[in-house]
Amino acid sequence: CGIIGYIGDRKACDVIVKGLKRLEYRGYDSAGVVTGNGETLDVRKGAGRIDELTEKLGFLEMEGNRGIGHTRWATHGVPNDINAHPQKDCTGRIVLVHNGIIENFAELKEELLKKGHVFRSDTDTEVIAHLIEEELKGSEDFEEALRKALNKLRGSFALAIVYADEPDKLYVVRNESPLVLGVGDGEMFAASDVPAFLEYTNKAVFLDDGEYAILTKNSYVVKRIDTGEVVEKPVHEISWTLEMAEKAGYPHFMLKEIYEQPRALKDAIHGNREIIKGVAEEIANYDRIIFVAMGTSYHAALVGKYLFQRLAKKVPIVEEASEFRYEFEDLIDDKTLVIAITQSGETADTLAAMKLAKRKGAKVLGIVNVVGSMATRIADLTLYTHAGPEIGVAATKTYTTQLTVLTMLAIELAKVLGTASEDYLKKLENELMKVPELVELALKHDNAIRELADVLKDKRDFFYIGRGISVPTALEGALKLKEISYIHAEGLSAGELKHGPLALLEDGVPVVAINPSGKVFDKMVSNIEEAKARGAMIISLSDREELSRVSDVLIKMPRVDELLSPIVYVVPLQLLAYHLAVLRGNDPDKPRNLAKSVTVE
Ligand code: G6P
Repeated sequence: CGIIGYIGDRKACDVIVKGLKRLEYRGYDSAGVVTGNGETLDVRKGAGRIDELTEKLGFLEMEGNRGIGHTRWATHGVPNDINAHPQKDCTGRIVLVHNGIIENFAELKEELLKKGHVFRSDTDTEVIAHLIEEELKGSEDFEEALRKALNKLRGSFALAIVYADEPDKLYVVRNESPLVLGVGDGEMFAASDVPAFLEYTNKAVFLDDGEYAILTKNSYVVKRIDTGEVVEKPVHEISWTLEMAEKAGYPHFMLKEIYEQPRALKDAIHGNREIIKGVAEEIANYDRIIFVAMGTSYHAALVGKYLFQRLAKKVPIVEEASEFRYEFEDLIDDKTLVIAITQSGETADTLAAMKLAKRKGAKVLGIVNVVGSMATRIADLTLYTHAGPEIGVAATKTYTTQLTVLTMLAIELAKVLGTASEDYLKKLENELMKVPELVELALKHDNAIRELADVLKDKRDFFYIGRGISVPTALEGALKLKEISYIHAEGLSAGELKHGPLALLEDGVPVVAINPSGKVFDKMVSNIEEAKARGAMIISLSDREELSRVSDVLIKMPRVDELLSPIVYVVPLQLLAYHLAVLRGNDPDKPRNLAKSVTVE
């Protein structure tokens, strides 16, 4: 979900609606706004997209210079008008929006029902409003009541709250869901993410878990939920321009972000060159290494495993963060290195895995895109991917920059440990510098891939195969396709083909074969033949012309060292998924049922 709050001299609804549009990638099944000056609050909300609702409910006609807004991605209660946020207490004077999940909401709700509270929605959020109302009974001190209520909540919550009786204040809270303050001149903002207010100010204060803030138009104070003590917070200057966060002329953010990759890769290289050696030295002595991540970041971790094996002669384990949490508790100690990869730095499962690792004394290295995100504050060490903001739900540039950082780290580790020849490492480093240009070349296939997508758009199933370091590329290609085109796709190691999936191949089923020159090139050719013999339509990605013999389509790739190939070879697969999504009438930036940042477990 996305939250935005404003207090100042502007028309709050303008700031809020714009902010919600920028946060739409966080969830978009329903939305709502509350504004007001004096003691009357105007609450409007409903199920649907923000643009539709703005028109239907007249968000932009709402009066007042203080307000909050919310765009929802349902967790408790189906997406409908009643369950949309804001939610309010019985009196309608406490109105709030929430991102996260209240774990003990059923228990709290039961107690409140007994005390006579009447609930309108199925949400866990509404419970919070009633709980504050309950704590406020017989007291004048709203802040104290709020703090008491917050201390009773278990789970994750970012909140923005308006209280009708305090028209010059806005309250916001963070606990395991993101919340950032924007500090303006005579105005204050609060949001789930910086782009929501970047147009107005680049001064940001990142709340930490267990903190809340009281905003007036000229001030902010941050306090601890448990003790109420004031916390001094640093102000960060954000260097992302708003333009960077907007579409820059492309029809979709995803396409823009695919095309930004050459630039993003350069930034990832330059941003880490100075510091990577120090990080490699700090982690070189760990032998038990566990990568944790989810989604596309998990695929980056799989590539990381191959890189660490080949270059640093280390054998890491790769675990989905959601699994790690429950299986590794007794297997980690202070001799363990956990490398957490997360674009947003806010994925609930990945954060939980990191916290567990820390608790067990492990060293935690984060590879993160979003500056100031929670993951960077949990980690002992952070390497940033420097991809800039990624708005499209399907990860593209954040993936290739993760791979770049992992490659640099593996090279540096190999140098520290002396596990690969210096000449080879030098050559690899030089070639990595050229990867942005190679990605540029890969992007030149865009038109051809669009035409190919036109041929493929009615296919029901796709298979993506690779071997060695190309296995994760196959998985990522399939994931991209599933996410945005809604076509069923499987990614697998080509060696597995004949152990089951081959039974599914029949005439015309597309098999995308990722086969750069390298150790397993010839083995892949045999696997491709196996698929071809069953009538599959073979789409090969390779630098070797000879593959056209066994392929229906060959996407000719530039020659690149096998260890760097995942960065270059994923690009045509991103384009293929993108064009298939668009041709099938889908919005690739906002795939159904998915969210950019999954802040619930
Ligand atoms: C969501 C997104 C994916 C992303 C995954 C992990 O599922 O839709 O694109 O790969 O979360 O996100 P993270 O921010 O931790 O990399």
